Amino acid sequence: MNNEQTIIITGGAGFIGSHVVRLFVKKYPNYKIINLDALTYAGNLENLKDIEGATNYVFEKVNILDVAELDRVFETYHPDGVIHLAAESHVDRSIVSPLDFVYTNVVGTVNLLNAAKKHWFDTDPTLNAKRFYHVSTDEVYGALGDTGFFTEETAYDPHSPYSASKASSDHFVRAYHDTYGLPVVLTNCSNNYGPNHFPEKLIPLMINNVIHKKPLPVYGDGLYTRDWLFVKDHATAIDAVYHKGANGETYNIGGFNEWKNIDLVKLLCKLADEKLGREDGESEQLITYVKDRPGHDRRYAIDATKINKELGWKPSVTFEEGLSQTIDWYLQNTDWLNHVTSGAYQNYYAEQYAEKS
Ligand code: NAD
Ligand code: TYD
Repeated sequence: MNNEQTIIITGGAGFIGSHVVRLFVKKYPNYKIINLDALTYAGNLENLKDIEGATNYVFEKVNILDVAELDRVFETYHPDGVIHLAAESHVDRSIVSPLDFVYTNVVGTVNLLNAAKKHWFDTDPTLNAKRFYHVSTDEVYGALGDTGFFTEETAYDPHSPYSASKASSDHFVRAYHDTYGLPVVLTNCSNNYGPNHFPEKLIPLMINNVIHKKPLPVYGDGLYTRDWLFVKDHATAIDAVYHKGANGETYNIGGFNEWKNIDLVKLLCKLADEKLGREDGESEQLITYVKDRPGHDRRYAIDATKINKELGWKPSVTFEEGLSQTIDWYLQNTDWLNHVTSGAYQNYYAEQYAEKS
């Protein structure tokens, strides 16, 4: 691959996107990284403060529903690649507002595919060295029973409006490959955790509530199982797939790291009590069983053999290490957490970029 290329990373101000942007900006000084993000409630430029002055980094506040703006960005930068992470990502929100998920995750993805198809075919009909990388989730495969794993061949069976919208976007990406010859690659990853995670998802919500001694809401019987991957390991997997993945292929990404929610929350409480100098068992008292999520998938588990065998990727940290680092990060970044929970982080763009726009 070209070692002086321009890549648009969508959703780069979000949780996973910000780790991907940082990795690429730092690891590839000869690349130009365009962070394209609408800055919804989940987009936070404070996540990228440390690299915002880098000469190979540009931020574009653009909504992927705005076709004219996508055209402008493609015409301005002539990207060689797109790494597409922008999405509505929270299952509970999708149950309340499914259409938002259809717009961003389905229509937004098709807008981006159209922009890539139009600009790449116009400038280089051979599509030489172009790549459209779609980042997706294991939730498209539905739910597992007590045994078995999702492989790349598992049939799609989404249950939530979120997973249905991601499944639809995956189908469109493959359809653009099969129909128009667009060079694409896809990954389906398990649940991520780590620094900069918006505190509406399980792990950061529990950390925030432990810090503030608020109830820890465990849905249903707490025996739902997820396969957790440290976000920085997801970013290195994305790096591997972007550079070495085969055209048209799909790779599952996961940590071989299954936890029942209740066991995870208890481990989190134990680690947090040690770090906060609280008595062992103190935070566990905050656990409260609450009403279950409708359509709640019982178990997710990824078979990540293909990416390991073909691209040599594997996770770098154990769950205990990653969770401990994550709790430390939240304890050391109380400003970030306070800005996010108060909404103050949304002023950052206006203040920081005022004279640039
Ligand atoms: P996130 O919600 O933290 O961030 C999403 C980002 O997309 C935000 O910066 C937001 O501003 C931006 N965005 C939303 N709508 C947009 C629009 N219309 N136009 C432009 N930008 C928009 O999400 P995340 O957890 O970082 O997930 C990133 C991607 O990875 C998503 O595609 C998600 O489906 C996928 N994924 C997430 C997980 C996980 O555990 N979080 C696991 C597997 C796959
Ligand atoms: P979540 O972080 O929302 O990720 P996803 O639904 O995409 O897997 O939830 C992870 C698991 O934790 C899921 O089984 C739902 C459960 N959960 C709770 O028990 N309590 C909570 O407050 C949240 C947000 C999630």
